[in-house]
Amino acid sequence: MAHLLPVLLLLASLRLAQAQYFNFPPPPSSPPTPTPAAEPPSRVAGRNHPSDSFICNDPRSSCFGRNLTCPPQCPAFRPANPNEKACFVDCSNPTCEAVCGSRRPNCNGVGAACRDPRFVGGDGIVFYFRGRANQHFALVSDAGFQINARFIGLRPAGRRHDYTWVQSLGILFGRDSLTVVATPAASWDASADHLSFAFDGERFDLALGHLSSWSAGDLFVERTTTVNSVAVALPGAFEMRATAVPVTEEDDRVHHYGVPAGDCFVHLDVQFKFAGLTERVEGVLGQTYQPNYRNPVKLGVAMPIMSGEERYFLPSLLATNCNSCIFSPEAAAGDGDTSSTIHRQSSWIAQAR
Ligand SMILES: *[C@@H]1O[C@H](CO)[C@@H](O)[C@H](O)[C@H]1NC(C)=O
Repeated sequence: MAHLLPVLLLLASLRLAQAQYFNFPPPPSSPPTPTPAAEPPSRVAGRNHPSDSFICNDPRSSCFGRNLTCPPQCPAFRPANPNEKACFVDCSNPTCEAVCGSRRPNCNGVGAACRDPRFVGGDGIVFYFRGRANQHFALVSDAGFQINARFIGLRPAGRRHDYTWVQSLGILFGRDSLTVVATPAASWDASADHLSFAFDGERFDLALGHLSSWSAGDLFVERTTTVNSVAVALPGAFEMRATAVPVTEEDDRVHHYGVPAGDCFVHLDVQFKFAGLTERVEGVLGQTYQPNYRNPVKLGVAMPIMSGEERYFLPSLLATNCNSCIFSPEAAAGDGDTSSTIHRQSSWIAQAR
């Protein structure tokens, strides 16, 4: 269990409500208003600015009252240059130090769901969940929000299961929804954008360009590269980093997927971080954040498989009625009863080091 120690150290019983923790400017509290125009970069590369800093203002956090300043190696929460490391502040970090990291998903970090989907659970355990091609499954279902996935995939002749990838995410909170879709392509063009978005069922454009952003109430979406990568935050509930990627010829060759010509199976690599989950949290990934979760996957095998298709199956991307789903539109994301809320954080900061 020694490998869990770094994770456990970060499971401070604290809530992180600061916008800066999520590396976003405080979102406007106006009604849903798309803000399609790219913001000017907050910092101009090459010029000397003082490092960003943040004063931990939540009395429940272990760094309360401390002024956390970004290190010189990564002076900005939102660097103007997408190739530079960003600064992260975590007011429950035992050392109360800001750290450097990438704003893109870390597929080996806690809360990741990448490739044919390979998950890293809240307990740090790696597993695969196959699902079925062209079906939908709940990745996370908690009282205040739910995150569903649509799987794409194929089954080569003679195989007993589908190879699958996460093509779209359907996120529900209150009576609202956000969908993030990796758009299909015959072949991969890294300079083209392969993401599309909808809020409450209406498509919206997120202008191309690093730091281009869109918000609706507390929900905030921001590009973290010119094309194909975004960060999404719903303060008090979750933060997500997502990147659209193809199945490459190399992947296909190594894994014998048998991907046909004319489709590169564009999918999402994602990583989540949660705030204020309840102890009852469910979903393929969500269940692994339950405080007394006993992970059933076989350890020490090349591909530990997580079952649960029947518990997490959904009829559509924005459905909420899987057998084990617990989401309720009446419960606001992030304001559950604190006595039943676990403020368990994935070790994103540690992973980013
Ligand atoms: C926090 O520390 C930074 C760097 O030392 C400093 O520039 C900033 O003014 C401090 N903030 C406050 C409110 O004291």
